[in-house]
Amino acid sequence: MNRIGFLFCCAIFFSASTAHAQSNENAINTKVNALVKKMTLEEKVGQMAQVSLESLGKTDGPNFIFDEAKLKDAVVNYKIGSILNTPGQPLKPEQWNEVVGQIQKTANETKMQIPILYGLDDNHGSNYVLGATLFPQEQGQAATWNRELIYNAGVITAYQSRAASVPWTFSPVLDLGTNPEWPRIWEDYGEDPYLDAQMGVEFIKGVQNPLGSKDKLAVSIKHFMDYSDPKSGHDRTDSWIPEHYLREYHLPPFAAAIKAGARTVMVNSALINGIPTHINKHILTDILKKELGFTGFVVTDWQDIENVYRRDHITKNIKGATMLAINAGIDMSMIPYDYKEFCTDLIALVKEGKVPMSRIDDAVTRILRVKEELKLFETPMTYVKDYPKFGSAEFQKASYNTAAESITLLKDSNNILPLPKTAKVLVTGPNANAMRCLNGGWTYTWQGERTDEYASQYNTILEAVQNKFGAANVKYAPGIGYDNTWGKYYADSVIDIDAAVKAAADVDYVLLCIGENSYTETPGNLDDLFLSTNQMHLAKAMIKTGKPIILILNEGRPRVINNIVGAASAILHIYLPSNFGADALADILTGDVNPSGKLPITYPRYTNSLVPYIHKPSEGGSNPQGGDFDPQWPFGFGLSYTTFAFSNLTINKNNFSADETATISVTIKNTGSRQGKEVAQLFSSQLVASITPDVKRLRGFEKIDLKPGESKTVTFRLPLKDLAFVNADNKKILEAGDFKIAVNDLTTVFTVNKTKTF
Ligand code: BGC
Repeated sequence: MNRIGFLFCCAIFFSASTAHAQSNENAINTKVNALVKKMTLEEKVGQMAQVSLESLGKTDGPNFIFDEAKLKDAVVNYKIGSILNTPGQPLKPEQWNEVVGQIQKTANETKMQIPILYGLDDNHGSNYVLGATLFPQEQGQAATWNRELIYNAGVITAYQSRAASVPWTFSPVLDLGTNPEWPRIWEDYGEDPYLDAQMGVEFIKGVQNPLGSKDKLAVSIKHFMDYSDPKSGHDRTDSWIPEHYLREYHLPPFAAAIKAGARTVMVNSALINGIPTHINKHILTDILKKELGFTGFVVTDWQDIENVYRRDHITKNIKGATMLAINAGIDMSMIPYDYKEFCTDLIALVKEGKVPMSRIDDAVTRILRVKEELKLFETPMTYVKDYPKFGSAEFQKASYNTAAESITLLKDSNNILPLPKTAKVLVTGPNANAMRCLNGGWTYTWQGERTDEYASQYNTILEAVQNKFGAANVKYAPGIGYDNTWGKYYADSVIDIDAAVKAAADVDYVLLCIGENSYTETPGNLDDLFLSTNQMHLAKAMIKTGKPIILILNEGRPRVINNIVGAASAILHIYLPSNFGADALADILTGDVNPSGKLPITYPRYTNSLVPYIHKPSEGGSNPQGGDFDPQWPFGFGLSYTTFAFSNLTINKNNFSADETATISVTIKNTGSRQGKEVAQLFSSQLVASITPDVKRLRGFEKIDLKPGESKTVTFRLPLKDLAFVNADNKKILEAGDFKIAVNDLTTVFTVNKTKTF
């Protein structure tokens, strides 16, 4: 077939598939509208309520037992539409099949027989399903800079969640990781809007497409928006931000996800400029539903309508908060305990004319549409027996590969790494022998505190290092241990630093495994970003031994370690790499794997200097009047055991109109003696603009694999409109002028010849 013939066939294929999608959408809308017409107000309001599993029964050993009267009351009497969460412990997929099965059976006893939508936080795989393969937490996933790995993680997560009968995930987290103090920074894809959007879209494609298939889920992108940058650094507190910054930085990942088809959105649990996001009509309706054209539904975060009243003092009672939230655009309330009050209040509010019936119809239509799109009416249940690849070696390999590509080499003095396989090693530090630390929060339980019990079949760092170097060559003395008391996970205490010092006497290297214990949300709030005093004592004592220190950072937040960086011979950041992370680390230590991770965040050097890489020139190191941007390691940084040379940065033209696309290419050569992967990162800087331009912004990236001596050319296609920024009038504008682009240390300049507003 010639080129014209090929293009003609493509055009026919696309218009046929668009027509098919349109007729499918029409059929769903017709069916849902007919259903909504038949429903009573009580039935509609019930669909808008979501309760937690724990409120409907209790655990009995490893099992969950429903209180049948409570289940019936919620599902049959109050007609609730959704249930979420674990009973406080993970269940096997067969147990989930029974739990969800019993729920759907009860839903069948209602007049409308509408299936219940079950949702779980699959933050890093199906983390509440025993035996499922888990993945590194999102920050580590982003450190791979490899879209394919993230897509695969999405595919596998969806498959395993469906094996457990659960068709809805509260992921991905698209919050921007700009504030290192925030206790959930590790749950997101790093600090850059472009990287975040790219990774989020890959995950959504993997999890959701094609929606309606028995191994796909609906996603809930969260937490819309600017949850991640509270002024206090503490969870669920106020963020101060002008709207043009909100739109410039926090909105794009969500906008990209909605364009990619994300079907549900969870709301920022905190406040923006003093307004609880759950009652912010401008954000939920004007921006999300109208401007972005979002047709799915909006779910609250945990108890957040109640928070408007109790925490934020906006109303005098919950009923007032319910009115404001539903009128602002909330479609479903994660209550999660007292569904009766929500349902009773909302029914009364409609009858009193305080919430229009049209708003209820809109909300319930959105919810039922997603249930239809998931084909829950046809197939409310899926069973593990139909998912033979659940927890398979193939899935485990995908998790291992993701961990291996995430691990980031930050320092390697005199190429001390990789280590000889015959080396004698001391493994020390509180993170050395804990699956809990490798996984972080949202692992088997909310805070991840029981991970060592549930993940004992996988290797801790100590075990993986013993497997690799031989048990006889490995000594273990932790020195410090974490406090596992509920609510004190940030604390650690001295076990025996002297014993660790003694153990170092006859080894060649010290593997110092430091960082953080598992945590999430409010229990993870922290007052001091320095590495803890106890760990610092251990590090200093180890440095004093004079043995080469290989520092392993296993942490959610970038803890400040400036005092020990200089003395460490090598530093590897492993993030929260999950159950195969230690195996990947051991392979990197010996050189069986060449590290290729790159920081998706700026690693701070000082606690009072937490500026991310996206900042203004006044914050930059070149500003004589106070700029002090001097991170420990910059965003995008990561070394390799081989070396790469970048050359021949070219752009197809020097002068563009705003609607054109630039073609930029660069050649990368592996100049070392090992195979390795390198990431080409394309940054742009506008030289002059009406709002002070950011020093630089990521606009593209590609990860490539190169054999020793091999060269490859990477080509980026950059639509010029991607360089537009949001101005003080909240308009997206590409201002005419000069731009610099940079890949590695190569730069070139071009001009945009005419201003355009988008
Ligand atoms: C978290 C959400 C999560 C929800 C349900 C909340 O506390 O903020 O991220 O999806 O709980 O578990």
